[in-house]
Amino acid sequence: MKLLPLLTVLGTSTYGALAWGSLGHVTTAYLASHFVSNTTEAFFQDLLRDETSDYLGKVATWADTIRYTRWGRFTSVFHFIDAKDEPPNYCGVDLARDCKPEGCVVTALANYTARLLDPALPAWERNQAARFVVHFVGDIHQPLHDENVARGGNGIHVLWQGRQFNLHYVWDSAIAERLIGGSRRKPYDNARRWAEELAVEIREGKFADEREGWLKDVDVDDATETALAWVREGNAYVCSHVLPEGPLVIEGQELSGEYYEKAAPVIELQVARAGYRMAAWLDLIAKRFQEQGADRVEGPWEEL
Ligand SMILES: *[C@@H]1O[C@H](CO)[C@@H](O)[C@H](O)[C@H]1NC(C)=O
Ligand SMILES: *[C@@H]1O[C@H](CO)[C@@H](O)[C@H](O)[C@H]1NC(C)=O
Repeated sequence: MKLLPLLTVLGTSTYGALAWGSLGHVTTAYLASHFVSNTTEAFFQDLLRDETSDYLGKVATWADTIRYTRWGRFTSVFHFIDAKDEPPNYCGVDLARDCKPEGCVVTALANYTARLLDPALPAWERNQAARFVVHFVGDIHQPLHDENVARGGNGIHVLWQGRQFNLHYVWDSAIAERLIGGSRRKPYDNARRWAEELAVEIREGKFADEREGWLKDVDVDDATETALAWVREGNAYVCSHVLPEGPLVIEGQELSGEYYEKAAPVIELQVARAGYRMAAWLDLIAKRFQEQGADRVEGPWEEL
């Protein structure tokens, strides 16, 4: 019994403070590595200085590890956008209204995509930009990263299997962990396995018919509009699945039953979309970089 208050504290503060749990992030990155082209794979393995097949999975949570450090503090607003809508009556994202002056996940994805494409930047800065891009594509697909209410649900207390957690944590981690089972101590093994399953569903399973539709808003010349389309899609789930009866009614509710049954397919779909879109995005970046900078690559590259 003594352990319970401690676990509750961990559940509501430490984990809640982390973005999209590591399982979600690492899975989207592994999933992307199933779909990128061979040249893209070589391009990012080179930039990230990792020749293994884990080159994307390994950097997927880096942005969460630096956001609370002194130098990385400026990046903490980059993980979300605070849509000031009114779920469940009205959802919607307006960049001018919702993005803080210091930035948000939409401007951050645009910024780090541009930096990845900038041949004048040294390789270590482009390496960092790659880590941010991999992370923020993941964040965008967690609906509560696209919502303002109670700091993205961090201030809403709910129950999960009888214990108190905050709603943000439930959507970041608890639903996905329950969905795939396995020990939460092994996020990389679980993520690899889940990504393999989702890759099959995308190639020839339940997502095969819709996967092309997932890319309809992808435009590497307009990262802001691309990110906004994804953010709006994620935000819409706040009205339909996250807070279907509003933020007051959900307080104190047990979410591991009926609520989970409706939420789990959304998490699965969002992780699948994020991984597939990340692959398309990285393909476009690698292609564009090689086209635009073919004769200029050598300089900054050699500083590695
Ligand atoms: C990409 O690599 C895989 C495995 O290394 C190989 O089977 C495939 O033919 C390659 N595809 C292209 C287009 O080079
Ligand atoms: C873009 O990224 C650089 C490097 O991290 C950062 O200094 C700058 O503030 C960012 N700009 C925006 C608009 O996010």
